[in-house]
Amino acid sequence: MPFPASPALTMEPDKLSPRQFELFRDFIYRKSGIRIEATKITLLTNRIRRRVKARDLADFEAYYRMLVSPAGEAELEQFLDEVTTNETSFFRTPHHFEWFKGPFLDEMVARPGLASTRKVRIWSAACSTGEEPYTLAICLAEAAIKLRDWKVSVLATDISEAVLRQARAGIYRPRALQEMSEQRLKRHFEPQADGESFGIRPALKSMVEFRRHNLMEPHPGPPFDCVFIRNVLIYFDRDSKQVVINNLIRALAPGGYLVVGPSEGIYDMLGMLTKHSHFAYQKPLSGGGTS
Ligand SMILES: C[S@@+](CC[C@H](N)C(=O)[O-])C[C@H]1O[C@@H](n2cnc3c(N)ncnc32)[C@H](O)[C@@H]1O
Repeated sequence: MPFPASPALTMEPDKLSPRQFELFRDFIYRKSGIRIEATKITLLTNRIRRRVKARDLADFEAYYRMLVSPAGEAELEQFLDEVTTNETSFFRTPHHFEWFKGPFLDEMVARPGLASTRKVRIWSAACSTGEEPYTLAICLAEAAIKLRDWKVSVLATDISEAVLRQARAGIYRPRALQEMSEQRLKRHFEPQADGESFGIRPALKSMVEFRRHNLMEPHPGPPFDCVFIRNVLIYFDRDSKQVVINNLIRALAPGGYLVVGPSEGIYDMLGMLTKHSHFAYQKPLSGGGTS
């Protein structure tokens, strides 16, 4: 039986009961790896209530039943979008991008192993509404001289289709652009008709490919020379963190770097990676495995 019968879920529509809270928590954990803290019942209630209203359903019970039924597949992304935290901004933690644009790219173009392909692959894992991968694209555009004749691709993924839609649209309000200089704003964005928002220029947009991906699953395809995993694992429990980290290490090319956010809580879980700085960890140039 995929989910318990109603008794556990019946009742007061205003607040999740402790039992209901557990059911939704478990469901979120199974689907995303995110472990909602036991104290967050009011927060989760408020977020789920918005979805119950949006679907015009009677109560939490009806919503849960819909979510776990085959018809719930379409609702799942809206649900995950509501319960996950998508906050992000351009040039968030600026020194990560200074390192990326300078020492990292210098090392890549000088690395003998890459000279024959002249390809560098970057992955923004958990990209939210696109600010992180577009920041990487801005860095690449600004480093164009040293990247002449090189092909650098940026893949950006997230579990939520809702944030990916916004990312693909590439329209941003001033709040997301606080770290952006006037010069960068002019070069890479065009003002929108509403007089407030800015849209990513097509040349920059075409540098980033957006796709849906759940970090709890291995990433298919060729390995990456740099993976950004920032401000996401903070919401995962230790077991899920380890699953994600193993998947990311597998997805790194030999010599590739993992760039870690300041509050990920994974510094003691990075196995075979060598600490290069407090935020960049490198996979050995030779050897395999995940730990
Ligand atoms: C706070 S944002 C971080 C955005 C960006 N990396 C940054 O540092 O600004 C966290 C993102 O992680 C995504 N996320 C949560 N669980 C995920 C999972 N299991 N797989 C992929 N993305 C996930 C959320 O949808 C959200 O967009």
